[in-house]
Amino acid sequence: MLQVNKPTSEINRDFAEADGSASQTLTSYLDIISRQFPTMVAIVSACVILALLYLFTAAPQFTSTASMVIDTRKVQLFQQQSVLGDIAVDSATVETQVEILKSENISLAVIRDLHLIDDPEFTGSGGGLLGTVISAVSGLFAEGRASSEFEQTRKALDRFEKARTIKRLGLTYVMEIGFTSRDPQKAAKIANAIADAYIVDQLEAKYQATRRASVWLQDRIKELRTQASAAQKAVVDFKTANNIVDTGGRLMNEQQLAEVNSQLIMAHAATAEAKARMDRINDILKQEIPDASVADALKNDTIVKLRGQYVDMASKESIWAMKYGSDHLAAVNLRRQMAEIKKNIIDELKRIQESYKSDYDIAMTREEAIKSSLNNVVSESQLTNQAQVQLRELESNAQSYQAMYDNFLQRYMESVQQQSFPITEARVISAATTPLKKSYPKTLVILAGALFGGFLLSFGAAMAREFTDKVFRTTGQVEQELGANCISILPALGNTASARGIGGRVLGGKRAGKNNPEPDLLRYVVENPLSRFAEAVRSLKVAVDLNSIVRENRVLAVTSTLPNEGKSTLSTNLAQLIAHSGARVILVDSDLRNPSLSRALVPNAQVGLVDVVAQKAQLEDALIVDAETKLSILPAGTTSKLLHTNEVLASKAMHALIALLRSKYDYVVLDMPPMAPVVDVRVTSAFVDSYIFVVEWGKTKIDVVRHNLRGSPEIQDKLLGVVLNKADTKALARYESYHGRYYYQKYYARYGYVE
Ligand SMILES: Nc1ncnc2c1ncn2[C@@H]1O[C@H](COP(=O)(O)OP(=O)(O)O)[C@@H](O)[C@H]1O
Ligand SMILES: [Mg+2]
Repeated sequence: MLQVNKPTSEINRDFAEADGSASQTLTSYLDIISRQFPTMVAIVSACVILALLYLFTAAPQFTSTASMVIDTRKVQLFQQQSVLGDIAVDSATVETQVEILKSENISLAVIRDLHLIDDPEFTGSGGGLLGTVISAVSGLFAEGRASSEFEQTRKALDRFEKARTIKRLGLTYVMEIGFTSRDPQKAAKIANAIADAYIVDQLEAKYQATRRASVWLQDRIKELRTQASAAQKAVVDFKTANNIVDTGGRLMNEQQLAEVNSQLIMAHAATAEAKARMDRINDILKQEIPDASVADALKNDTIVKLRGQYVDMASKESIWAMKYGSDHLAAVNLRRQMAEIKKNIIDELKRIQESYKSDYDIAMTREEAIKSSLNNVVSESQLTNQAQVQLRELESNAQSYQAMYDNFLQRYMESVQQQSFPITEARVISAATTPLKKSYPKTLVILAGALFGGFLLSFGAAMAREFTDKVFRTTGQVEQELGANCISILPALGNTASARGIGGRVLGGKRAGKNNPEPDLLRYVVENPLSRFAEAVRSLKVAVDLNSIVRENRVLAVTSTLPNEGKSTLSTNLAQLIAHSGARVILVDSDLRNPSLSRALVPNAQVGLVDVVAQKAQLEDALIVDAETKLSILPAGTTSKLLHTNEVLASKAMHALIALLRSKYDYVVLDMPPMAPVVDVRVTSAFVDSYIFVVEWGKTKIDVVRHNLRGSPEIQDKLLGVVLNKADTKALARYESYHGRYYYQKYYARYGYVE
């Protein structure tokens, strides 16, 4: 199982941390602020003072603003398109206009117009104290020559651009032109000049474009005019050359063709008729005598008459021949006459045939003639058709040239008009006016900034101080850094504490020496049983007793990391307090290297612990008993020649002595040497029940203590807890804000407790 075994106390702490960590962090920040309050106040006020100094020394600046709008509705002076072609005014356009306003062209125009090169604000040294210093320093390095006009212009341009602000107002078509100067009037003048320069520039751009366009148009128009007239002329020439005349929508040739065609049809019919007749006559001629129907058909009177005579004669002849024989003269005569008539008929027929033939011939000839004329017309009209196609081409050519020419001419006229009436979409909606208030430095903003910055800085400093402050100040710190209980916090006593303490008793007398505990302090719990100090020692006693449920807790050793943290003071007071309450207690000065306790309490003692352990003296002889509390004290004894004090403490005799004391007393309190410089403490773990670890409040470094404790696990195992000593009550109240104040000030004040 992957489970980390933690002591219950640690697990509980984890829970406590997870629970309400947000409010915990907040309170921890508030704690930091309250602790570091004086530093923070100092930093914030320093910032504010600096800001005020700056406000009083900085040269005031004034900003004036002009607004300009780009009108989205096009100005329709002319009902026609402009030569440039108007672009739709959209967001990008406005941004572009802003950039144009920022362009060097505009800036240079303003600089030129207002002669800003001659203005010391633009070409002289920078304003304010800083500017003067900078220019003085740069003047040291400058070569002696005066700067050229170009350099001056660039310098002025640089300053000009820094002082100018151009921005679009939100998503509108309005642009704001601001200018900041030391002189309010100048600021307004320049802001307006920028707007004017922009409008002039826009107009100039349009004018130039229109002018260029009209020059180009002029050339094109000239060219087109000659092209159009050439095309027109080509059409006319072609018509004459091809003999093309229009007659009512139809061309001449077409009409002729139709007429000749109808003539041909008629001629053809006539020929056919003539031929038929001729054929008929030829057929008739093959018969000797045409029969009646034929004769009728011919409608020839002569033939009809002759045929009638012939038929009569024939009938007469047949009658006569029968009557008189065929050889009869009369019959023969008749036959002769008949032959005559026949001959006449044939002659007549031949004459008719002749005339029919000639009719036919004539008709043929006519048809031929018409046919050939038709052919002529057809071929002619084919030619004309081809010409027609060409003509159309030429005509459309001429037309398009003409149209182009007209169009260009119109545009040209428009551009000329626009040139003389230039208009822009931009116009000033509010001109810049002389500002009444300075725009910089803004008193409120700078003060607020300084205040805010000061707060940030001071908070940062507070945090830094907190984190670099590697000393113990709170019980929480002890628990967190050492994982040990912080049993109590002893306030600092004596001059320092009493001078600040509320109603605290001023303790007279100087300290008895650097290494000796103050004799007054050693009996403090007895003399001031109601003091906060006594209360803190009492809570230590309670902790000892509570812990004795777990293990026997009768041999108590008081130790610390470094000398002078207050071991002797605490051990004496603890022993006095317990003894005062009636228990049998013995205080043993086990600090053999520096028996300051013995020096302070029993300076006249001849023998002590060392002598008892060395069996040079009896315990009873060495003991000194406090008259008031009945506390038995075993001083260190003759330690002056001792080199290996740890051997004494580790000796069997020492063990035996402690066992003896255990049997005689309820509590044995050992005043130990410090752990860091001496090893003595570690050898005592065999006979000590619990260690009480003194840490000097706000002085002993956390890592030193931690390192020290980690190096001695046997001490840590028996560690009852840590006591913070010499705490500054005032500061402590800030550190332990929520529980601290009540206990340490109000409660004590209310019930007349003294320190
Ligand atoms: N709570 C206290 N307030 C004021 N002075 C103290 C306090 N505790 C100890 N001192 C002083 O600090 C000095 C060192 O104390 P001491 O008990 O001798 O330390 P240690 O035994 O650890 O060397 C002594 O002068 C003593 O009077
Ligand atoms: Mg001491």
